[in-house]
Amino acid sequence: MSPLHAPAARLTDLLTGLEPPPAPAALPEGMFLLRGRADPAVLAPLIETVAATAPFRFMKTKRGGQLSAAMTSCGVCGWVSDRRGYRYESIDPDTGRPWPTLPPAFRRLAAEASAEAGFPGFEPDTCLINRYAIGSGMGLHQDADERDFGQPIVSVSLGLPTAFLIGGAERRDRPGPLPLQSGDVMVFGGPARLLFHGVRPVKPGFDPLFGPFRYNLTFRRAR
Ligand code: SIN
Ligand code: FE2
Repeated sequence: MSPLHAPAARLTDLLTGLEPPPAPAALPEGMFLLRGRADPAVLAPLIETVAATAPFRFMKTKRGGQLSAAMTSCGVCGWVSDRRGYRYESIDPDTGRPWPTLPPAFRRLAAEASAEAGFPGFEPDTCLINRYAIGSGMGLHQDADERDFGQPIVSVSLGLPTAFLIGGAERRDRPGPLPLQSGDVMVFGGPARLLFHGVRPVKPGFDPLFGPFRYNLTFRRAR
């Protein structure tokens, strides 16, 4: 079992007197939570810049459904889903142009957070940006469209809180909730790289920076 990082004091907690949400005693081996590691105020305008070139969109699934989070990407490739399935594409199918480049602050955060979690040398080539409206979540899945599962995943939560659902190696393994707040960073690699995971539907609320939304940045080495 890996140790949890001690929760850092957060300005909002100091101002409101609220305790950070309880975290489980231990996370699966290879999964790390860096509470408050990201600065939401730095990341918010960068998301806007990416979305000005590659707008958020609701992607279709193979079966004709639609993913509940709106998505966009930046980097040398972007994750897409449509009737042909899931994959990474170098060209944004919605605009016909390359995805916007990874902002240096994104790159730095992913590299530093992964190194702190014990995965040095991580150089993401893509960042998937999910935008969850109230009531939206994500079903249990594995991140398995990447070439090298030796590379970790860095996942940054912004805006409204929710619970990350941590499952096991099999879809049928019962997941446990991990409460996440704006600025929390999760890193999962090694034995945790292919664990099933999902996101609980976002409860009504309003975040001062992100409004009635939760955002998630998922950094990956896809190729
Ligand atoms: C994902 O697993 O792709 C998203 C995770 C999250 O929104 O926290
Ligand atoms: Fe995922």
